Amino acid sequence: MRRLMAALAVVTLTSTSCGGIGQASTVRQASVRSEDPVATVAPTWIRGLRVVRDNGKEESCAWSTTYPQIPSAQPLTDALRRLVEERRAAFLQWARESGCGEQAGKAPELNMGFGFVAASGDVIGVRFTVYQLGGAGDGKSTTSLWYDGVKGQVVPALSLIDAASMNAFEELTGKALEGIDRQAWLADRSARTLDDLAFTKDGDLVVTFDEGEVAAGAVGQAQAVLPRAEVEPLLSDFGRRARAQVMRPADRMALPGYTADGSVDCRQVKCVALTFDDGPSPYTPRLLQYLARYRARATFFVVGQNVIARPGVVRGAVRAGHEVGNHSWSHRDLTGLSARGVRADLARTDQAIRKATGVTPTLVRPPYGAFDRVVRRQSPHPLVLWSVDTLDWLYRNSGHVTRAAVGPARPGSIILFHDIRPTTVAAIPHVLKRLAKRGFHFVTVSELYGGHPPALAIHGPSPRHP
Ligand code: NI
Repeated sequence: MRRLMAALAVVTLTSTSCGGIGQASTVRQASVRSEDPVATVAPTWIRGLRVVRDNGKEESCAWSTTYPQIPSAQPLTDALRRLVEERRAAFLQWARESGCGEQAGKAPELNMGFGFVAASGDVIGVRFTVYQLGGAGDGKSTTSLWYDGVKGQVVPALSLIDAASMNAFEELTGKALEGIDRQAWLADRSARTLDDLAFTKDGDLVVTFDEGEVAAGAVGQAQAVLPRAEVEPLLSDFGRRARAQVMRPADRMALPGYTADGSVDCRQVKCVALTFDDGPSPYTPRLLQYLARYRARATFFVVGQNVIARPGVVRGAVRAGHEVGNHSWSHRDLTGLSARGVRADLARTDQAIRKATGVTPTLVRPPYGAFDRVVRRQSPHPLVLWSVDTLDWLYRNSGHVTRAAVGPARPGSIILFHDIRPTTVAAIPHVLKRLAKRGFHFVTVSELYGGHPPALAIHGPSPRHP
C-alpha cells in the first residue's frame, strides 16, 4: 500500500460550481482519485472566526472572494487579506484593460475561497483555492499558508520541510510523479511553485500542483501523496508539529491571546481601547461599519438623552460586541450637582441604556473628565477616563485626529474620541489600519482590564500616559 501511494500521482478531476473552469480533464493514471485526500478542519470549529466575503463585477467580469479573520492570528489574517487583494487587483486590472471579452465562449471570472487544513494547538493551515478564467493565472490553483503560533509568524508551505532536506524532498516528489511527466518536472525548476503542502489524516504529505504545472497544457490539478514514513525524516520541526496537529488535534486553539469566545487576552497581546463619547449621533452607524471591518471592539460612552433619540444605534453597538458606558444624562458637569443629583442623573442614564439594549452599563465616564469625592462616591460603576486625548472636538480635521490617536498609542492605552464629529468618524479607518499594522488588538475598556477595571481609572492600565 505504501509503495503504491508513492508511485501514485493523483490526477484530480476538477469541476467547479462557479462555471466552466477545469472541466476537461485527461486521466493519465489507472488510479484516479476524485476526492482530495487532504485532511480539513471545519471553520465552525474556530470560535470567533469571521469570514470576509466580497464580490462584484468589472466590465462583465464577475469576481468573488472570501477569506477568514482568525482571532489572535492577526499576521495570518493580514497575509490572507493581502493575498486576496493582490490577486483581485491583478484580475480587475486585466479586466479593465482587456474589456473582459469572452474566453473560449465563456465569461471571465475570478473565484477565491479557502479551507482550513489544520487549526488546533499553535498551528493553523489555510488553503486558498482560486478559479480564474481569463488573464494571467488562468485555471485552478491552490496555495497553502501556514501559521506558527509559537513564533506568531506566517510561513510558506515549504517550511514544513527541513531546509537541509529540500533536495531529498524534491526527489521524493519526483518519484511520486512517475508516469505523469516526471522528467519535465524534474528538468524545469522554474515552473515549480510547491506552494501547497498539507497532510492527510494518516500523516502522509500531499503536494498539490497547479493546473499545467507538472504536465504542460494538462488537465486538472495533480497531487502527489508522499507516504508518512518516507517524508518523516524530511520534515522540519514546524512540519512535525503541524502533522501532529492534523493526526491528533488538540481540543482547542492555543495561540497567545486566543480565548475560545473570540475575546482577547491583553496580558498576552498588545491592546488599545478606542472610546467614543457623547453619542450616539447620525455618524455612529458609519463608525460601526468601520469597526466591523477591522473586527475592532470599542466602548461608547453615551449620553442618556441621545440614547432616547437613537436607541437602535446603541442596541446595534451592543449586538456587534461593543461596550456601552454611561456618560450622564445631558452632559452636565457632575461636580456641580448634589450627591442626590449625581445619583439620579447616572441612574436615569443607566436605565435608558438598559431599556435600549437589555444590558446595564458597568462603567461611567464623567463629562469633561470632571469628578470629585461626591461623584466618586455616588457613581454606581467605576469611573474611566483616558490616556490619549485626540482633542478631536477642537481639531476637526481627520488627518490631525489620526495622528493624535496613532502617535501616542501604547499597549494599554485608552484613546478618547467623540463620535458626534464627522471628521473623527472619517479618521477611524486610518486609525484602525495603522494601529492594526503595529499589531494592536482593539478591545473594550472592560476587556482591557481583563474584566476588572479599578474603581477609578484615570489612565489605561499600562503604561502610564505622561
Ligand atoms: Ni463628553
